[in-house]
Formats: sequence, C-alpha cells, structure tokens
Amino acid sequence: MTGPYSAKVMDHFMNPRNVGEIPDADGVGQVGNPVCGDIMKMYIKVKDKIITDVKFQTFGCGAAIATSSMATELIKGKNIDEALALTNKAVAEALDGLPPVKMHCSVLAEEAVRAAINDYLIKTTGQGLPGFKPHDESLHKEVHGN
Ligand code: FES
Repeated sequence: MTGPYSAKVMDHFMNPRNVGEIPDADGVGQVGNPVCGDIMKMYIKVKDKIITDVKFQTFGCGAAIATSSMATELIKGKNIDEALALTNKAVAEALDGLPPVKMHCSVLAEEAVRAAINDYLIKTTGQGLPGFKPHDESLHKEVHGN
C-alpha cells in the first residue's frame, strides 16, 4: 500500500457503492461529527427484518465516504440484528485498515447504520434501540481526545 490509505479505501472513496437516497425509505438516520462538521445520512428499506436496500449520502472526508460505502455493502441483505452487530472496527478491517487518525470516521458509519435502524424501529414498533444515542460530545471526546 502506498500512502496512508489502502487500495480498498481508495476504491470505495473514488467509486462509492450505494450512493444516493431512498425516497420511500423505511428508516433514515443522520449523524454528524460536531467538530469536523462531517455529516452522514443513511436510508434503509426493510422487509421481513431483512435490509433489502440501503443508500447513503456523506458530506465529509474521504475516509467517511469510504466507510459509509463499505458499511452499506456489509449490511445489505443482512437482517436487523446482524446489521446492529456491525462495528466501526469491522468496517475499517473490511477496508484493510484506516490510519489511526481516521478511525473516528468509521465510528460515524457505525452510528449512521444504528441511527437508520433506530428510526425504522420507532416507526414500526414505537420503540427505538435501548440507550441509543447518536455521536455526541462524550463520544467525540473519546475519539478525538479533546
Ligand atoms: S474527518 Fe470527520 S468524519 Fe472524517
């Protein structure tokens, strides 16, 4: 690998998969990093607990785009519980790693998936994920250390 990014990161940054919006989505989640200002929005279609389609819009850095692209690939066709088990580390590993300073971008991808599922659950069951809290100041401190 040349430079700080793996070939897979560069591929998903240059040719992101599943970009766009699903107008009749069953769940929509938006998360943002308050300091860098990057925003990620994820749309899911769900049928019989299976994520049949997923799209994203990311206004952010290259790593945020690559991780959202990879996250959509990893949850498409999976059931809700499998998608909820997706961690930012798994997304980064699927991309053959991220530079340490860019790991927080993958946190945004994990959270966007959770936020979309949370929205889907609220719409269908009236109850969201227990304890769900999108990227907030405390997490931000954890990943940025300030
Ligand atoms: S620098 Fe903000 S998500 Fe990457």
